[in-house]
Amino acid sequence: MSLYLHIFLFTLLILHALPATTATATASATGVHGYGDRQVLTLKKLKWTQQQTTTANCFPQRSRTEKNAIILELHNRDYCSGPRSDWNQRLLKKLLSDQIRVHSLQSRIKFLLSNGFNQELSQAQIPLKSGAKLQTLNYVVAVRLGGRNVTLIVDTGSDLTWVQCDPCGSCYNQQEPLFNPIQSPSYKPVLCKSTTCQDLADATGSSGVCGFNSSTCNYYVSYGDGSYTRGDLANDNLVLGTTLVKDFVFGCGRDNDGLFGGVSGLMGLGRSALSVVSQTYGVFEGVFSYCLPSVTDEGLGSLVLGDGTSLYKNFTPFSYTNLISNIMMPTFYFLNLTGISIGGVSLQDSTFGKSEMLIDSGTVITRLKPTVYNALKTEFLKQFSGFPKAPAFSILDTCFNLSAYEEVEIPTMKMHFGMDATLTVDVTGIFYFAKADASQVCLAIAGLSGEEEIGIIGNYQQKNTRVVYNTKASTLGFAKETCSLD
Ligand SMILES: *[C@@H]1O[C@H](CO)[C@@H](O)[C@H](O)[C@H]1NC(C)=O
Ligand SMILES: *[C@@H]1O[C@H](CO)[C@@H](O)[C@H](O)[C@H]1NC(C)=O
Ligand SMILES: *[C@@H]1O[C@H](CO)[C@@H](O)[C@H](O)[C@H]1NC(C)=O
Ligand SMILES: *[C@@H]1O[C@H](CO)[C@@H](O)[C@H](O)[C@H]1NC(C)=O
Repeated sequence: MSLYLHIFLFTLLILHALPATTATATASATGVHGYGDRQVLTLKKLKWTQQQTTTANCFPQRSRTEKNAIILELHNRDYCSGPRSDWNQRLLKKLLSDQIRVHSLQSRIKFLLSNGFNQELSQAQIPLKSGAKLQTLNYVVAVRLGGRNVTLIVDTGSDLTWVQCDPCGSCYNQQEPLFNPIQSPSYKPVLCKSTTCQDLADATGSSGVCGFNSSTCNYYVSYGDGSYTRGDLANDNLVLGTTLVKDFVFGCGRDNDGLFGGVSGLMGLGRSALSVVSQTYGVFEGVFSYCLPSVTDEGLGSLVLGDGTSLYKNFTPFSYTNLISNIMMPTFYFLNLTGISIGGVSLQDSTFGKSEMLIDSGTVITRLKPTVYNALKTEFLKQFSGFPKAPAFSILDTCFNLSAYEEVEIPTMKMHFGMDATLTVDVTGIFYFAKADASQVCLAIAGLSGEEEIGIIGNYQQKNTRVVYNTKASTLGFAKETCSLD
């Protein structure tokens, strides 16, 4: 196989994406566009040639520390594993994986709500399909664990942090060498008769058990899509940027499989006791934030642990909403969706203000209840009319052929939450480019399969936004931040 691939990537360049300030759109003669309730999306083809497919590594990574906060680079996983050529296939797989994740989240939520006990959830799973072994959890950071660099997927939808461990009964291929506990003098197994081991029930949905023939606490995490990790619960030193977390509790995975391809493991940023957020509470006070980049392969965002207001780049004022706690689902971050507006027009739906919505860094495409989605689609089509239609793409059913256009004006999309918080979806988060030549460009939102399912705010709609989670104050804030053009 050739070392070099010719890759044509389609990149969205934002010339101006001003927030809506007036209700009328005006176009000036200078080519600087008027906005009102629309934003201009400029489509430009970039040609990438002779990209090396080797050097699949996210190190070295920059990090900075300020007061009680650290900032870590956040990469799109594609960036770390090197560019690939099969654009369309990759996107199809990504959406298929996304659908599997959403199914698994829904079945996990249904299970938790119906039983009230979150133990041994293990079996209600959809089997892993071979074609689906790809990227949904697409953002990674690099940290040091037990003296070794490890690249981890960032997941706000789960709690336990884990890495694949040597010796390994069954491991997927990863780029970095396996973590070897024997080489880390600070590594200590967690005993099964400990409260830490008992915390696993909340963190993973499966109780910790004593290891076969040993007093080590064994954990099992199933991600519902057939992905899982199983192994020994352990303590070791975790270094986040320059901050040392002693005796950090993590999983030493001896048997792992699933949608994690290439990276060493996963970092759990959920809300229960074993998450990174809870374990670093003494240092970062339960606050973290991220800004997810928009451009697939070059994008560079950041994960900030602690209140890092001084570390964020040019950003608009924050608007905050309350995080809704659900005792039966201690891991998840729920918000109170009170409305959605398209181009300044508020959608009407009886569920606004009455149903919880999950915010998740691991789901790609935002899912809405069928009635809400239909209202959104109808309003969007009304305002984005006159463009040639294109066939549906996987779960995305509202598609256009925009190959004849250099730029288009698209209605702004805002999601409103309790206490008057607003997420203004970045102009790059409204369309999904199924074809690199823009001949199939789809509205990047999908409907759930039933009204009883829980809406999910996916990462595609969180791009270029600073999302601050404050588990201490139980709030979540949004601000616009251009995190990727740098
Ligand atoms: C580990 O990461 C640090 C910081 O990014 C870097 O300086 C160092 O070279 C890395 N070590 C290895 C073995 O990759
Ligand atoms: C189980 O314990 C016995 C006695 O301590 C030991 O000989 C054996 O190797 C252990 N087996 C495993 C699988 O660790
Ligand atoms: C959600 O917001 C609505 C409208 O502001 C309010 O009536 C309702 O009590 C809120 N629900 C929760 C759980 O905060
Ligand atoms: C998309 O539109 C262009 C220009 O209008 C046209 O030439 C092309 O055939 C269309 N592509 C598809 C797949 O319909």
